[in-house]
Amino acid sequence: MPVQVHLVEHPLIAAALTRIRDETTPNTIFRQELERIGTLLIAEATSALATTEVAVQTPVALTTGHVLTSEPVIVPILRAGLGFLQSAQTLMPGADIGFVGISRDEHTFEPKPYVNKLPESLVGRTCIVLDPMLATGGSLALACRLLIERGANTPIIVVCALAAPEGIEAIDQAGLDTQIFTASIDERLNENAYIVPGLGDAGDRQFGAA
Ligand code: PRP
Ligand code: URA
Repeated sequence: MPVQVHLVEHPLIAAALTRIRDETTPNTIFRQELERIGTLLIAEATSALATTEVAVQTPVALTTGHVLTSEPVIVPILRAGLGFLQSAQTLMPGADIGFVGISRDEHTFEPKPYVNKLPESLVGRTCIVLDPMLATGGSLALACRLLIERGANTPIIVVCALAAPEGIEAIDQAGLDTQIFTASIDERLNENAYIVPGLGDAGDRQFGAA
């Protein structure tokens, strides 16, 4: 199975997730809670990044420390993925950021790319895709293909708040080698391809309707 799904269970994630699911939560609080979830998910999603030993002189003694062997490339899918970007940059201040803009057609649910600002070459680079919502999987599949075309390492690490079983299945069927870290695998998609119970439109809830 090319897709490995990691359901990240943590009481702080569960509490924040409950707040962002709540339809009465205002945009400002929604963004704060999403960022909190992002920090906890990204910490887990990066737990296997390679490190290299280095010598470090403390005020008391010489000891051995670690640095990341190579800096990852963080790829938020616009718009909603921006909600995880601050968390990712705080945790990995040396990472490069590549932007992919994708919006779903309201009727066909097909992904429509509108921004591609990725490094020219991703050969040898570990990529971490940020998108709170994995619904049909169309947007994520397109983003992963753009990264693989440029030579990104596989598996591609994916961080999302909610995943629908249909989306996970679609990524798997597409043969995309990914590790998906999610706070919840929800029940299903509805007739509008929204995640149920979900949280609504993650872009609109952060930034207002577009
Ligand atoms: C949302 C979300 C994902 C996508 C998931 O983006 O942020 O990128 O839908 O749906 P999928 O798995 O069916 O492709 P949307 O197109 O609503 O754009 P936005 O982030 O700008 O609101
Ligand atoms: N995109 C969203 O923002 N929410 C959904 O439920 C599905 C796709």
